[in-house]
This record gives sequence, structure tokens and C-alpha cells, in this order.
Amino acid sequence: MSIKSMVAYNGREIPKEDKVFAASGAALDAVEKYGKADVINATVGALYDDEGDLLVLKSVEKVMKSLPATSFAAYAPIAGTPGFKDAILKAALYGFEPKSYTAVVGTPGGTGAIRNAIANYSEPGDKVLTASWHWAPYKSISNELYRGIERYEMFDENGKFNVADFEYKVKKLTRNQEHLVIIINTPANNPTGYALTMEDWYEVKRVLDEVPLEKKIALVLDVAYIDYAGDPREVRSFYSVIDNMRANILPIIAYSASKTFTLYGARCAAMICFAHNPEVAEEFVKVNSFSCRNTWSNSSRAPQEVIEKIYADPELFKAVEDERTAAREMLLARGRGFEEEAKKIGLEIVPFSAGFFVTVPCSDPDALCEELKKKNAFLIPLGAGVRVSVASSSEAKCRRLPAMIKEAMETLGM
Ligand SMILES: Cc1ncc(COP(=O)(O)O)c(C=O)c1O
Repeated sequence: MSIKSMVAYNGREIPKEDKVFAASGAALDAVEKYGKADVINATVGALYDDEGDLLVLKSVEKVMKSLPATSFAAYAPIAGTPGFKDAILKAALYGFEPKSYTAVVGTPGGTGAIRNAIANYSEPGDKVLTASWHWAPYKSISNELYRGIERYEMFDENGKFNVADFEYKVKKLTRNQEHLVIIINTPANNPTGYALTMEDWYEVKRVLDEVPLEKKIALVLDVAYIDYAGDPREVRSFYSVIDNMRANILPIIAYSASKTFTLYGARCAAMICFAHNPEVAEEFVKVNSFSCRNTWSNSSRAPQEVIEKIYADPELFKAVEDERTAAREMLLARGRGFEEEAKKIGLEIVPFSAGFFVTVPCSDPDALCEELKKKNAFLIPLGAGVRVSVASSSEAKCRRLPAMIKEAMETLGM
């Protein structure tokens, strides 16, 4: 008897191949064959410069390279070094002064923060609520933890945030579950680039305020792209809505250093709670530290030291801010460029505000991506559209893409 499988799948759906990595692998092969200039690689979830190289903030690179061996070789405390926790809180809040009780637990990437939030604020068998357009790992992390996922339609027929469906799904799930984790990825949502408006936020708050007090809600704000979404203070204005919420609602900010400090591979982030009282904040640290310890133990020390140093040195802080502002302006110009060209030729896009990605809705995303590959343009097929990374292509390429997409759709009769 030949045994072909040894794994206990435990009901998880494990695809043969990750679509994002497959598409980016094909793009890299094309770059090798035809050269960077002749290929549009819009598959990548990282910011690239106009020459097609990963953009790394030079000021951050300099600090990283200056670290003594003990700074990267020694273990960090489970929830992060004290200096890092202070610094990352400052970075996440950007001058906002919460009335809530904040507490910080360091994690390896925003991914770790989301994982801990689902593990600790929902029960096995529960459903986690997120939007119809969402980052795919929300579902696979939930599955890995024996939870399911429920989606609300993100937009109504007028292209507005669909509060009615959000409300319906919150009410439906809280009828049967004691706990509910809700993940909202804003601003610069992946994959759409949408940001909830203040009006959307007031409605979200109204819906959550109506949930009976005996039901416990963890409101996870995945702000992975917040520092590339626009003016840093303006894009944080929704903090005033999630601050000081009712006692049964716990906002948790998943704040990642991957994009903000271009430390993608260094694996650094924090989960930050806006707790109603000190007991809930203390419990947040205790329980999430326990999860860290038993999942990945401590996080990488080097990026924590880097971020601490940036916040301890005003000159260095300014250098990082200036560089990031320039990178953000470049990214915003690319997004606007794509949007303008799409509008000119009548190519429909999902409501977009800013960020790394734009999404074009279509009936057969796989076929559309295959057709575009023939023109050396590489995008990511999603369930109901194709995701274009404006973060990884120059503005000129971003401006060329809408016409290429429209032409490919016409060839396919879409
Ligand atoms: C929406 C969203 N959330 C969170 C993350 C987490 O990134 P990291 O774990 O690198 O911080 C990503 C990364 O692509 C993302 O797109």
C-alpha cells in the first residue's frame, strides 16, 4: 500500500498553490526574459520605485545596518521591548490622545496581530465578520483556528459602504455567538483602496452600540497601509469614533511596520487595544502574550530596536518622515493616474480612495489575467475582479494599464 498523504487536514481547505505567489512568479519569469521595462508586474504587495526595485527607506536601512550584534542576536521580551512598545504606540497614534486604556503587544507582522485577535476574541466554530472584498488570509487564518468567515457586501448599489448589510450580519452573528471578531481593513483597503468615511464610521458605531451588552465584540482595525493613505492625521480621524466605546466593544488596532518602515521581511508589528477599563487592557496583554509565547514565542528584536531608535532621535525621525512622505506622494500619484485613465475610457473600478491596490470588477478574473499575460502585464485574479498593484509599477505604467485591461476585456467579450 502506498501512502500519499500523512496530514490531518481537520477540515481546512488547503489550495495546491497560492494565487498571489503563482502570479508574481510568472511576472518574475517574464522580467527575466524580456527585462523590467517591458513587463508590468502589478502583482506585488510592496512598494517599488520607478525602476522596479523594492523601495527601502534609506534612513531605516542605515539604522538597521548600525545595530550591534546583541541588538539582533538577543531575545526580545515576549510582547516586545519597552522602548519598542512606546515607539510603536506613538507611530500608530500619530499625536491622537485616546481616552481609552491602551496596551501594546508586539507581533511578527500585522498577520500575527490578526491571528492573535481571532484566537483570543472568538471561539472555535464561530464566524469572523469581514467585508466581501478582503485580504485572503482573514479566511485562511480563521480556518486554521477552526473558525469560519462571514462577509457583508462592502458596497451597496450606489457604490457606498453597505451599512445595511453590515448591520444585518452583525445582528445575525450576535444572535448565536457570545463573541464576535469583526475585521475592518481601512484606510487604503486591500484590495480596493477604499477608506471608510466618517459617515460610514458613525454608522458602524451606531450598529455596534445596539449590540446587547452581554455580547462581546472585538473590532479589529487592520491599518496595514495607513501611512500611505494620505495626510497621517487626517487618515486617523476615525480614531475619535473607536475611542471610548461601550464596555462590550474592544477596538484592536493591527499596526504593521512592514509598509510604514519598509520592514516587510523583518516581521514587526503591534496589536494595540483601546480598552474601556484597565482590567480589559491588562487581560489583553496577559492573554495575547500567552498566545505569542505559544505560537512564535518572541518577535524579532532588530526591527524593534530600529523603531525605538527612530523615535528617540528627532533628526532621524524627521528623515524617516520626509522619505516616507516622498514615497507616499509617488504612490498617490500612481493611484490617481490609474483612476484618471480608467475614467477617461469608462473602465469601471471598485470605489477607490488611495493605497497600494486598485480593483477592477469582472466576470472571469482568471481569464482576464491570462489574456493580459500575453501583453506582459501581470495582475492578481480575485473572486469577483482583478487586483492591480499600483505600488509596484511606475506612474507611466499605471496610466497604461486601464486601456490594456479594457482591451483584454473586449477581446474576451466581457
Ligand atoms: C490587508 C493586510 N493586512 C495585513 C497585512 C499584514 O502584513 P504583515 O504581516 O507583513 O505586517 C497585509 C500584507 O500584505 C495586508 O495586505
